[in-house]
Amino acid sequence: MSQRVRKAVFPVAGLGTRFLPATKASPKEMLPVVDKPIIQYAVEEAMAAGMTELIFITGRTKRAIEDHFDRAVELETTLEARGKNEELEELKALIPDEVSCVYIRQAEPRGLGHAVLCAKAAVGDEPFAVLLPDDLIDDGNRGCLAQMTATFEADPASLVAVETVPKEDTDKYGIVSTRNGDGRAVAMTGILEKPAPAKAPSTLAVVGRYILTPGIFAELEATGLGAGGEIQLTDAIARLLEKETVKAFRFEGRRYDCGNKLGFLEATVALGLKHPEIGDEFRALLATFRD
Ligand code: UTP
Repeated sequence: MSQRVRKAVFPVAGLGTRFLPATKASPKEMLPVVDKPIIQYAVEEAMAAGMTELIFITGRTKRAIEDHFDRAVELETTLEARGKNEELEELKALIPDEVSCVYIRQAEPRGLGHAVLCAKAAVGDEPFAVLLPDDLIDDGNRGCLAQMTATFEADPASLVAVETVPKEDTDKYGIVSTRNGDGRAVAMTGILEKPAPAKAPSTLAVVGRYILTPGIFAELEATGLGAGGEIQLTDAIARLLEKETVKAFRFEGRRYDCGNKLGFLEATVALGLKHPEIGDEFRALLATFRD
């Protein structure tokens, strides 16, 4: 097995029910945070970590994602004719020539685990990254995935990004238990999907960044449909860690959960305040909203 991670899987076939009606006909991943769609933050993070093949698991209503990362020749020609060179360069830089995109349809939304399994043939026998674009992570540097690839390359074992959440929120996340240790990457001993606070083994919650060895595919196939007719990635990781080391990775940076309305607004405010063009004016504007 190669030790370099080159392929990134973006499961974007979910229905986005928490954002209805905004997501009835268009993907939630295309909702803009300030001036970029949510998915673009994850794609930029993947490319900053050296990914050269981007595998999108898409579904109905997700065409806009393909269009966004495709060339738009007419638009480029018009921008060129109008001398809008800055905008033109920005569009061209979206996906550089050395990076390729693959789109795979998940016919039915049968869960995150099933979405990852849809990437099996495209990934092949090598380690790969999974990024859930809803989790927008800002580390003020090269990004969470680059932190993880550096760790993986030094010691190639699967990694699951985690952060500490309030005890009362454990039923919203996969929760991991680990061996003792206070390093950034610590071997996991168990993982449970959305345990009630009273049953949670810890408050270390899984967030949407993974580096997985290809062994995960056999575990996804063996997991079968669980609760709600879905294949849970958590269940397959639980099986994988019976066979190989899987580590919980405490990343540096701040995570915004753009999959719910409040988290999405939080990301918008945080990144708006940091934005080089409008940050200062936005800060002044926000101040006018104080009670
Ligand atoms: P979520 O649990 O956030 O579901 O999926 P969702 O459909 O996106 O949003 P809500 O809860 O209905 O509002 C976590 C990730 O897994 C992907 C989603 O696109 C998201 O990135 N996913 C989920 C799939 O690709 N396929 C699925 O069948 C389910």
